[in-house]
Amino acid sequence: MSDEHHPADGDHHPHVVPMKLLIGVISALFVLTFLTVAASWVDLGAMNVPLALFIASIKGTLVAAFFMHLRWDKPFNTIILLLSIGFAILFLGIATMDTSENQPTFDTDYAHEHMAAKREELAAVARKEKGLSGSNLDVLYPPHHAAAHPTPGAGSSSRAAEVQKSMLTFFKPLPAVMESPADNPATPAKVALGKSLYFETRLSKSGKISCNSCHGLDTFGVDSLPTSPGHGGALGERNSPTVFNAGLFATQFWDGRAASLEEQAKGPILNPVEMAMADEAAVLAVLKGIPGYAPLFKAAFPEDADPLTYDNLAKAIAAFERTLVTPSPLDAFLWGNLGSLTEEQLDGFEAFKAATCMTCHKGVAIGDGFEKLGKAIEFPGLKDRGREAVTNSAADRGVFKVPTLRNVAKTGPYFHDGSVKTLEEAIKLMGKHQAGQDLDDATVAKIKAFLESMTGTLKPSIAVPPAPVK
Ligand code: HEC
Ligand code: HEC
Repeated sequence: MSDEHHPADGDHHPHVVPMKLLIGVISALFVLTFLTVAASWVDLGAMNVPLALFIASIKGTLVAAFFMHLRWDKPFNTIILLLSIGFAILFLGIATMDTSENQPTFDTDYAHEHMAAKREELAAVARKEKGLSGSNLDVLYPPHHAAAHPTPGAGSSSRAAEVQKSMLTFFKPLPAVMESPADNPATPAKVALGKSLYFETRLSKSGKISCNSCHGLDTFGVDSLPTSPGHGGALGERNSPTVFNAGLFATQFWDGRAASLEEQAKGPILNPVEMAMADEAAVLAVLKGIPGYAPLFKAAFPEDADPLTYDNLAKAIAAFERTLVTPSPLDAFLWGNLGSLTEEQLDGFEAFKAATCMTCHKGVAIGDGFEKLGKAIEFPGLKDRGREAVTNSAADRGVFKVPTLRNVAKTGPYFHDGSVKTLEEAIKLMGKHQAGQDLDDATVAKIKAFLESMTGTLKPSIAVPPAPVK
């Protein structure tokens, strides 16, 4: 064996740290660290982590290569270098691979089974109490969902399946059951009382106005006017939002000043430009003067010693409102019935997505949360202070609750002040002022078609006023 194949350490690689190389490696590490930080600012979804790991393994490789350069002959160093390169390739592979298959999505099979079980459970309770008829049951637990047994891809285009996958990252279908708060569980007796109160005109000073006057259940929960005439025809400042699906919202009113439907329901009866009753005592006096109400309150709140209270009135109305759900073709589509949207509506969703509408209109309510009107480009002539009146923070000037787009094709006129007459105009204004995009007429038409897929169906029986309580 000749020595020339085994040169002594340092013969070719002196133990001196090569300064230029060291500075080069350190600068590269800085640049890579900056890249990692910069990449974390950009939302790459599931790609952020593999990308960071890829950059980290390049750094590891660089460091390994540097030490290897100092001690070129050690086999250990070669192994480290090979390992580092291996990791770099692995993470690059992950970063470029389509991992969308592995993203958590809405599990339609699970949801379907869960919903079927819940429906059975409620049916059993309802049969026992003989309170809810089959048709009312269907409002609480729309069979629409049951009919749309999830069979992704069955008999429909792979395009629809792709669109559905994309939609499920922004939207959720209506729940089979609208959740009730722990302190106000829904019972058939409570829902029935709530419905009577909802249509009760004697809860207003004039005896002419009920919740249904401004939120007509036969007109998709709105009055179709820019702002609503209340007591003595006085006009409020704001447009009546729909009560359908309002149980989905985290807050109520355009400025979110009520935290729940229970809290909200107490407002209009005492509001001087709405139902204009003097105070809670006056409301209770009216209800106590109608003999039929005492047994209804007793049945709805069997555990209360004194059930006829203003709090319970609000609870009953809220429980009724939670039955006001409108499952739509979009829900059927999200639940797996891929034939329920037209090609134009699928195009419309793509346009909606391209216009970034779902940054604000998302989730199960396809709305909710607060956003500035004129986020991209200032909204001209905006007078309403919006949420600023609730939080007293200047940053909330002109901030409104993002309205639901469910049934939006039926709930015009639009915006907090009802100033926008047509859905086309609303979409155009949104594109411009919220997303900073000028949408052409063809794009607006497609988006409108997509929004029409959110128009729900409702059991006709729900809009029929109950017999007046005597
Ligand atoms: C005179 C018309 C009028 C009457 C009567 C009326 N409302 Fe309203 N309602 C409105 C207006 C206008 C708003 C929006 C006000 C705001 O945001 O400041 C509203 C808001 C709501 C909201 C909030 C929805 C959302 O998307 O934030 C609910 C729920 C609601 N009303 C339910 C009721 C109930 C229940 C009654 C009966 C107790 C009732 N309303 C009576 C006009 C009325
Ligand atoms: C930055 C958040 C944001 C974006 C992006 C956004 N919106 Fe809105 N949208 C809102 C807010 C806030 C309102 C309420 C405006 C008001 O009350 O005056 C609203 C209202 C609406 C309305 C009227 C609803 C009603 O009941 O009055 C429609 C329709 C609508 N948006 C559709 C869209 C479409 C379509 C897009 C995409 C082109 C879009 N929005 C993008 C926040 C947004």
